[in-house]
Amino acid sequence: MSLTERASWKALTAHHAQVGTRTLRELFAADAERGTRYTLEAAGLFLDYSKNRVDDQTLKLLSALAEDCGLLERRAAMFRGDAINTTEKRAVLHIALRAPATQKIVVDGANVVADVHAVLDRMVTFANAVRSGAWRGHSGKRIRHVVSIGIGGSDLGPVMAYEALRHYSQRDLDLRFVSNVDGTDFKEATRDLDAAETLFIVCSKTFTTQETLTNAHAARAWSLQQLGDEKAVARHFVAVSTHAEAVTQFGIAAENMFGFWDWVGGRYSMDSAIGLSTMIAIGPDNFRAMLAGSHAIDEHFRSAAIGQNLPVLHGLLSIWNNNFLGATTAAVLPYDQYLKRFPAYLQQLTMESNGKHVTQDGKPVGVDTAPILWGEPGTNGQHSFYQMIHQGTRLVPCDFIGFCNSLNPLGTQHDLLMANLFAQSEALAFGKTAGEVAAEGTVPELVPHRVFEGNRPSNTLLADRLTPETLGALVALYEHSVFTQGVIWGIDSFDQWGVELGKVLAKRVQGELAAPNPELKHDSSTNALIRRYRSSRNH
Ligand code: F6P
Repeated sequence: MSLTERASWKALTAHHAQVGTRTLRELFAADAERGTRYTLEAAGLFLDYSKNRVDDQTLKLLSALAEDCGLLERRAAMFRGDAINTTEKRAVLHIALRAPATQKIVVDGANVVADVHAVLDRMVTFANAVRSGAWRGHSGKRIRHVVSIGIGGSDLGPVMAYEALRHYSQRDLDLRFVSNVDGTDFKEATRDLDAAETLFIVCSKTFTTQETLTNAHAARAWSLQQLGDEKAVARHFVAVSTHAEAVTQFGIAAENMFGFWDWVGGRYSMDSAIGLSTMIAIGPDNFRAMLAGSHAIDEHFRSAAIGQNLPVLHGLLSIWNNNFLGATTAAVLPYDQYLKRFPAYLQQLTMESNGKHVTQDGKPVGVDTAPILWGEPGTNGQHSFYQMIHQGTRLVPCDFIGFCNSLNPLGTQHDLLMANLFAQSEALAFGKTAGEVAAEGTVPELVPHRVFEGNRPSNTLLADRLTPETLGALVALYEHSVFTQGVIWGIDSFDQWGVELGKVLAKRVQGELAAPNPELKHDSSTNALIRRYRSSRNH
């Protein structure tokens, strides 16, 4: 049955027709307890969802939708290790990456949790050796710089986690990330480095990704040029991959490879060995604390009733805003400088997962999926795009993320920061009417310009402070929110066929750029662009 034919979907459509015009001002006026009633807490994360245009009936109907779409069964199937990534016939077990060693999850007859902990233990040994200086470079020098090479899920999670947890990092180790095939990325990342003190971590699940392999080869050449000895590779390169053969072919020995498994999706892999750079930066204990934070949300997600389930509720509110209120976008606004890469990380997590147009059985979804996600840390965004969020014509539901305690207290600056967060969500929700603007003595012709419609939904997520546990919890919250939304839409949130066509076409064009006189058989635009590039470049 298609989603829009479901009774639960129809009930929500009818409910929206009835109450859709009700404003947040009216909803708050009708219930003095709303601001404390519409809250939920789990694993150190506190969510205030009262500034969403929902009431008890909306929430009840959304929960019914989740049940109707089989969320409970799908959730159980994921935790059991069923192949819920149907188009790739794979289990989806990032939850196993943070399961305690005592837990058992059996896939194809093997306990994957035991495998996870075996790799974790190897990572710990290696990370400790690099951190302590016991792991030396080829010439005997201590490693001072770690350059992680990867892209997509093999980059965005580690970059985000490193930036988010920089406060906990060993400061005499310098971490850098190279992802883009643009040579500028590699050149700028390495221009001031001494190869004798530099360790490269090549991260690629498949070990076939063009960008990563190209950069890895550039790194190899750069290292060998300075170190002048093939044997140096063993001390300066490690790999993280599921593809041992390709790693060995590249020239990285098996003992310098950290493995993971096909049941870990790229964008769900930051807790696997893909997080080796994170572990080197923050140390094994902090890394394990991050895993524990994610695990706490996993357990909550697995066991809490639908109406009391933080990720489920978060996902259902997104469905309401996207599919019923018509928002086509969502902003994530962390009021913490350390979370500056969190929106970029979430872009892949949400849009590569749920940017799909057909259901698992290949039928059109029939409704909009994956809202366009973007964001910047507050307060910077306030002086950039918030104008549009407040007074533009589009509805942009926002997630505000803040911490009660700063990791870098500086006078009253944290209060200032948080005052801005609270003020923004208040302004978005309640706005300012023409009457209020006029009552301030505004000249009549300026009144319309100074009116804030308000009625713009937001969530506020608060935690005590940004710790590895909190970060782990935040990540798992969004992962399971994405899962919840994918289940409602009936799509496969764990494949990414949409990135394939561009890769194939790029290979063809690459050949045409290299050939002396290629016959171009593209459309007239692509042909002309290629010709123009070929005649303008300097080689
Ligand atoms: O962009 C497609 C993609 O497959 C992502 O899903 C993945 O995270 C990224 O490429 C990198 O892939 P790999 O880790 O195999 O290099």
